[in-house]
Amino acid sequence: MNKMLHKVPTTAAAIDIDPARFRDNVDLRPYELRHGMQDHPLLRLENLVALAKRLPPLQREYVFAKQEFGTHEAGTHYEHAGSFADLSTEDMILNIELQNRVIVLRNVETDAVYGQLVHEVLDQLQEQIEAVTGPISGRESFIFISPPRAYTPFHYDPEQNFFLQVAGRKDFAVYDVTDRDVMPETALEAFLASSTRTPCEPQYFDRCQVFELSPGQGVYVPTTAPHWVRTLDDVSISISINFRTPSSIRRDRVCRFNRLLRKTGIRPQPVSPRADTPRELWKSSLVEVPARLKRWLGSRHTT
Ligand SMILES: [Fe+2]
Repeated sequence: MNKMLHKVPTTAAAIDIDPARFRDNVDLRPYELRHGMQDHPLLRLENLVALAKRLPPLQREYVFAKQEFGTHEAGTHYEHAGSFADLSTEDMILNIELQNRVIVLRNVETDAVYGQLVHEVLDQLQEQIEAVTGPISGRESFIFISPPRAYTPFHYDPEQNFFLQVAGRKDFAVYDVTDRDVMPETALEAFLASSTRTPCEPQYFDRCQVFELSPGQGVYVPTTAPHWVRTLDDVSISISINFRTPSSIRRDRVCRFNRLLRKTGIRPQPVSPRADTPRELWKSSLVEVPARLKRWLGSRHTT
């Protein structure tokens, strides 16, 4: 195995989140970031291909890249492109460039070497983030290696996301997280309760803000803010650094509560971006009761 992969270089000045802008925008709006990850040896293509080959199969996804630009039916864009397991490193690189495949490396924090990198980055930021949000949890990271002109259609994710461009150029489009034409309340509830994604209605598709990312640039993406991504003329490498905040966990719970209310015929108030109104704090704490009870009962059985 490549010896370099066991030695994690320091991540000086990994991400400048601009704490004042983070305070103003977290949970509400995307904003552009600067970072220094484009120079990190672990994010070079040859080391990422080595990582791809040693990650468990469920954490390696190969997706056909050339999608038709625009809105899509839920999930239909997500067509797997088979496995690269039997290919040499060189063949894998050729496949990325020439054979229309995106490699998504999921949860790279589970790898000893890349986990150290992810934790170093978030350790550097934790104090700045938590001064605004309270305790963070659920650290995760995904790496995307894409051929030129690859399009990832409209979708949304449950985590807070620092999305960083490492190589090549990419357009990253983000929608207003509170725009209920783009993502109706019921679609948000269905996503957080059962991971069901609803496509954007074509007439609202242009309502996005497009960030034109080059290496060294990135974007903060609020929890569940819809987005689509497309690479330009080069092979692209990007890394997302994800985490949960108390507000994102509360939104999950309030949306699940609201979905239950809706099933009984009640029309609940739409969830707010931080789910921090007195009514939402109450709903969130109610959803947490069964889990707390289970933990309490579990602790009684073990003592
Ligand atoms: Fe995403």
